[in-house]
Amino acid sequence: MAPNRWIMVSVPLACALAVAGMQRGPEAPPSWLVFAMLAPAVAVTALAVQAAVRVGEWAPAAVAAGVMAAAAGLAVQPFTERPILVPALVLAAACYSLASLPMAPVRNGGRRPVLLALVAAPLVVLGAMGGIALLAGSPPMAVRAGIAGYGAGLAFVTALHAIAAFRLLRVPAWWVQAVGVLGLAGGLVFMASGVAVAGPLTAGVALLPGVAIVIEARQRPGLRTYVLGGALGGRLNGRAAKSPARAERALMETLTAYSPDLAAHLQRTAAMAVRLGRELGLEGDRLETLRHAALFHDVGKLFVPVHVLDRHGRPKVRDWEHLHAHPAMGQALIARVPALAATAAAVGDHHERYDGTGYPSGKRGAAIDVLARTLTLADVYDALVSDRAYKAGWPHEDAVKHIREGSGTHFDPAIARVFLAMLARDGEAAEAERRCRDAAA
Ligand SMILES: [Fe+2]
Repeated sequence: MAPNRWIMVSVPLACALAVAGMQRGPEAPPSWLVFAMLAPAVAVTALAVQAAVRVGEWAPAAVAAGVMAAAAGLAVQPFTERPILVPALVLAAACYSLASLPMAPVRNGGRRPVLLALVAAPLVVLGAMGGIALLAGSPPMAVRAGIAGYGAGLAFVTALHAIAAFRLLRVPAWWVQAVGVLGLAGGLVFMASGVAVAGPLTAGVALLPGVAIVIEARQRPGLRTYVLGGALGGRLNGRAAKSPARAERALMETLTAYSPDLAAHLQRTAAMAVRLGRELGLEGDRLETLRHAALFHDVGKLFVPVHVLDRHGRPKVRDWEHLHAHPAMGQALIARVPALAATAAAVGDHHERYDGTGYPSGKRGAAIDVLARTLTLADVYDALVSDRAYKAGWPHEDAVKHIREGSGTHFDPAIARVFLAMLARDGEAAEAERRCRDAAA
């Protein structure tokens, strides 16, 4: 589902629940409402836990724990006079904050002290709250209001991080998560003001992050995108987005964590593209832009499932949908990073072909970004000569022949001529070196 559809679904849902909560007033929630909430709560909890276990990452596990806390509070509250749902939802907010920790902007050498303190403190508060609730039966209103307000603040900070990460990378789960924790924040405020029915409604909204995890595990490249993309969003939302060196490091770390093979290919492509760029007379900022474009031309593959990237044999029909989307996804991502935005057109055009038969737009000739026309030679050469999961690397001579034959159809003939001359000189240099070694021996 496209991100804007998520917005259309989740915003009205959260608003309807909030309005319903306001209109009911301070009376006990009807039991049908509690039970209507319980069935989906149990289902979402089970699926979120299953997804978290499958992917073995701590951020989805933290979301699953938050969903469990909200569902447990919802299940137990009808059977006790004690305000158990408030601490349960504050605990859920703490778990969601933990999950969104990688999305928090990194400053001061990579530490996130404020959010960590915000997450750690609820454990103390909840311990105190639990003690009061158990010993005194029901804590004073002021204590409940304080704890609920605290949870609301925590949820609000979490929502801000999820929204900032969503604005950068458009992973729908973060939007759903943001709506869920914002609803949780609002609901906790209602609960503190004594609106009884707000409890089950808030618990219902608080389950949305679990729904996000479940959907992400099924529809998107998988939860690794959720986790790694969240970390990338956090790194790039800080000063890193404006500093080319920091943005480069953040992106490369994320790409390497996602697929070491892909990251290695990008490094080799960049090195070769820079050599070609020098041959073409590029220098200074223009050469650096080419290097960045070559280094991140496949950044959109962060959104391609790992099992598709590493598949043995030819990709399946379903896989092509993911693969064909990666130039546009990469372009959209890199355009949002101010330090690297100049490479966006090249990233988007890197699978266009000179004769107009490429993708995604079928641009031809000079309409294709010139940096894309340049880096594609280094990209294709490296892809051909390298070993991949599904093929052995070609010999250098076969790759040269392929590029010569593609000149004018796949490749810009003028740039291909310079590239082939560079490869020929490399070959001559290697041959001379071999002869020297043989003579010395
Ligand atoms: Fe590509």
